[in-house]
Amino acid sequence: MRLYVNVDHVATVRQARMTDEPDPVRAALMTEQAGADGITVHLREDRRHIQDRDVDLLMNMATTPVNLEVAAVEEMLTLACAWRPAQVTIVPEKREEVTTEGGIALCTNEAFRSVADATRHLKQEGIRTSLFVDPDPDVIRVSADLGVEAIELHTGEYANASSSERMQQLRRLAKAATLARSLGLAVHAGHGLTYDNVTEVAAISELEELNIGHSIISRAVLVGIERAVREMSDLIRRARTS
Ligand code: PXP
Repeated sequence: MRLYVNVDHVATVRQARMTDEPDPVRAALMTEQAGADGITVHLREDRRHIQDRDVDLLMNMATTPVNLEVAAVEEMLTLACAWRPAQVTIVPEKREEVTTEGGIALCTNEAFRSVADATRHLKQEGIRTSLFVDPDPDVIRVSADLGVEAIELHTGEYANASSSERMQQLRRLAKAATLARSLGLAVHAGHGLTYDNVTEVAAISELEELNIGHSIISRAVLVGIERAVREMSDLIRRARTS
C-alpha cells in the first residue's frame, strides 16, 4: 500500500497571507524524507492553495511520483501535459465548495463527455490517469470503459458516517474495490481519512494507494508547535541578553 501525502493545506496557510511560508514544496520534500511514497497536489482553477509555481518546482524536485489532481478542463489538461506528472487524477470541481465534495458524476452526458475527452487526451500523451469516483458500481464500470489505469474511491461518506453506518460504508468501499480490481483497474482511495478511521480502509486488500492530506497536515501543526514556539522564544530571549 502506497501513501501519497496531499500538501494542499500547507499552501492554504501560505495563501492566507499571500506570502512565501509555509512552502508546500518544502513540505512535500520533507514528507518524502519521512517515508511518503508520493506527493499529491490539487491545482484548482481558482488557485486558492496550490500555485503553478509549486507544481513547476515539485516536478523538478520531487524524488517520488507526483499525483496532480485537476478538473477535466482544457486549461488544466494543457498544464498537465506540459508538466507530465507520474499520474493525473481527474476530480470534480465547484468554485463554491470548501473541498472536493464527491466523486466525478459520470451520469450526465456533459460530465461524461468532458471526462471522456480528458482521459483520451491524457492517454494520447501516455500519462497514467485516475478518476476520483464514488464507490458506485455503475460509475466504476463506466470508468473501466473509459480505459483509465486507476480509480480513486471517494472515502468521504465513510469518513462522515455515524458509528452505526460506518460498517455499511466500509463494506460499500470494499465491494467497490473488488469490482474495480476485477475490471482491471488499480484502486486508490482518499478524502477525509484520519488517524482514527484509516485502519479499516487500509485493510482493504484491493487498495494500493491512499491519498491523505488534511489530517496529516493538521497533526503536523500540533506535533510541531512546541519546537516552533521554543525557537521563536529563544530568538527573542537571545536578542535581550546579547
Ligand atoms: N483525494 C482527492 C481526490 C482529494 O480531492 C482530496 C482533497 O484534496 C484528498 C484525496 C485528500 O483529502 P483529505 O485532505 O481529506 O485527506
